Amino acid sequence: MQTVLPLPCQRALFEVPPHISYLDAAAWSPLPRGVSAAGATGLLAKRQPWFYAREDVVAWTARARAGAAALIGATTDDMAIVGSVSHAMATAARNIIPIPGGRILRVAEEFPSLCFAWDRLADARGLVVEVVARPADGDWTAALLAAIARPGAPPLAVATLTPLHWSDGTLIDLNRIAPAVHAAGAALVVDATQAVGAMPIDVGRLKPDFLAFPTYKWALGPYSLAFLYAAPHRQDGTPLEENDGNGSSATGAQRYDKGERDDPMAMPMAATGLELIAGWGVPAVAARLRGLTDLLADGVTAVGLAVAPRALRAPHILGVAVPGGLPPDLVAQLRQRDVFASVRLGGLRLSPHVWVNEADIARCLDALRAIL
Ligand SMILES: Cc1ncc(COP(=O)(O)O)c(C=O)c1O
Repeated sequence: MQTVLPLPCQRALFEVPPHISYLDAAAWSPLPRGVSAAGATGLLAKRQPWFYAREDVVAWTARARAGAAALIGATTDDMAIVGSVSHAMATAARNIIPIPGGRILRVAEEFPSLCFAWDRLADARGLVVEVVARPADGDWTAALLAAIARPGAPPLAVATLTPLHWSDGTLIDLNRIAPAVHAAGAALVVDATQAVGAMPIDVGRLKPDFLAFPTYKWALGPYSLAFLYAAPHRQDGTPLEENDGNGSSATGAQRYDKGERDDPMAMPMAATGLELIAGWGVPAVAARLRGLTDLLADGVTAVGLAVAPRALRAPHILGVAVPGGLPPDLVAQLRQRDVFASVRLGGLRLSPHVWVNEADIARCLDALRAIL
């Protein structure tokens, strides 16, 4: 077994002031200094192009693509560069043609970018969308495995899944679910937005048809950029937009690249963020974040708030339920105390990344005790 070395706090690489507890990486992350610097150089290149070689950006694009591939165990050839997860999902839905009468499976209260393109495909091809209800015991994996195997159900055509629920970090164990999806002869499409960079994701193990993630959250990069993994047998489809970069000379998943791909700011920023994470190692990041969310979980349960059992929680996102409901202004009250988090689907979502230290956790717990 591979040894995971402990990862120290990486605060010095960010511009997060000591008194700020920023526990909202699942919404969007601050940029590491190196990523900001890469973006600033890119801005200069666009301001004063005569000082810079445009070809350099092409090299950054290749580095960004390679960095994205490395984080999920893919080859560079299998990665497309797109503008968002909804762009990725529209591309995937355009290139999976299921037989009418089958099911598209997903979990309840899924993020809209993972729903709309598939709802449209279901309408167009006469498929049923089956939404697995939130299980009372929090075990999405068991609920999904039961739904896949449900006797008498229409054949499974496509499973559109995530490795954890975006709203509260409850785990959806795709390593156990993917084999069942494949055994049913269905396509597997993964939205790994809330996972890549913070917990191990391996396309060699999951064998998805498509898998997408953006750079602005756990991957510590810019907004308006995402990557789409396309399995080798899914690389001969049609992109949403046709351009010089994804035309007849494009190889592999580059077939799905977006227009204006070689962005002088976004590509260096994305490559720098992805390479930072590779340097730490995702298992080490996950282990550090698990320690932080465990501290948060212990602290909030001590004051009577509820969290999912540890075995059903992802390492990096903690959903906190307040018996009787959250105060409507909880986020604003936390903010007044320099604690930054989100409320999603009626629960408090705490999502630390590598800049967070134990003092941030203590500040958050003190604030929650004071407010609640
Ligand atoms: C699960 C999930 N998917 C996708 C996204 C972002 O989608 P898009 O890139 O289409 O804006 C988010 C953002 O919070 C998310 O949580």
